[in-house]
Amino acid sequence: MTSDSEKTSRGPARVLGADPAALAEAARVILAGGLVAVPTETVYGLAADATNGAAIASIYTAKGRPSFNPLICHVADLAMAESLAHFSPLARRLGERFWPGPLTLVLPRAPGCPVHDLATAGLPSIGLRAPQHIATLEIIRRVGRPLAAPSANPSEQLSPTTAAHVAAGLGSRIDLIIDGGRCSAGLESTIIAPGEDGAVMLRAGALPRSDIELLTGPLRSPDHAADIVAPGMLRRHYAPRARLRLGATAPESGEAFLAFGPPPRGVSPSLNLSIRGDLAEAASNLFSMLRALDESHDAIAVAPIPESGLGEALNDRLRRGAAHSRENEL
Ligand code: TXA
Ligand code: MG
Repeated sequence: MTSDSEKTSRGPARVLGADPAALAEAARVILAGGLVAVPTETVYGLAADATNGAAIASIYTAKGRPSFNPLICHVADLAMAESLAHFSPLARRLGERFWPGPLTLVLPRAPGCPVHDLATAGLPSIGLRAPQHIATLEIIRRVGRPLAAPSANPSEQLSPTTAAHVAAGLGSRIDLIIDGGRCSAGLESTIIAPGEDGAVMLRAGALPRSDIELLTGPLRSPDHAADIVAPGMLRRHYAPRARLRLGATAPESGEAFLAFGPPPRGVSPSLNLSIRGDLAEAASNLFSMLRALDESHDAIAVAPIPESGLGEALNDRLRRGAAHSRENEL
């Protein structure tokens, strides 16, 4: 496979559809140590063989990501996951109920787990999920190993929900992009660490809290004094270039207006996350609409979004994006 410097000098990555020949090619590139952007139901991932240290190192380089921030390892099914991590009865129930799907479980690494230390950033734990996209499940089966895959965007920028977003952000730094269409959920997975006394929610995401709590009971917030935190949950994250103003009822001069639900009288939104006020539709539109407005505006006013259901994850991403804008002004 090519080295990083060759990749950067070599021009845009190839883009293939999700037909069997393309999936076979994706598996071949990954087994040779290359980087392939793959579709999932949440966002596109930048995948490499999780057991290959050099390939993992090139993920961090391509994204400009700090190497203390561990990667999620993607598996084909629960059986593959159980060869990598220790599953408590609760963890197993969560995997059985929600995989394939937008739930990442942070679990103790199993003895002899073949995933490279660089993928887990040297932690004794590992983040695992089985994605719900037939193309990527098929690539994992063909590779026969877990795939380490962070979201396929330059570090701290908006996550990609189409192959075109991936090409725009990382196109010249990776080997191949598998175009599996637009991501159906549009927000990253929910990250849970199931423990002895209940479970901790490390990141709100595409699987709503209430669905998980049916199995876990009330989810706790991460205790930063204890050791279980998601190192990637830096405030600076998911940020457009434009300044974000949240909870806005109308745009001010120079601002784009990103609405949610029927707009207030006399206000014409630039874009609407969901005219019906549907949170799932809003989640699937969030990153692509922020990208579109970011291209034409320096400031974006965003309508209030309720905290219920998927609103928790939507508001989390918006707050992180807004925090980033303020830091930039300092
Ligand atoms: O939906 C998703 O989760 C997407 C798709 C591609 O699967 N992936 C994704 O990966 O969002 P990334 O790298 O952008 O975010 C992974 C998060 C980071 O916040 C990281 O710190 C956390 O997962 N994480 C991974 N392994 C962990 C571990 N062992 N302990 C705690 N946090 C972990
Ligand atoms: Mg990410």
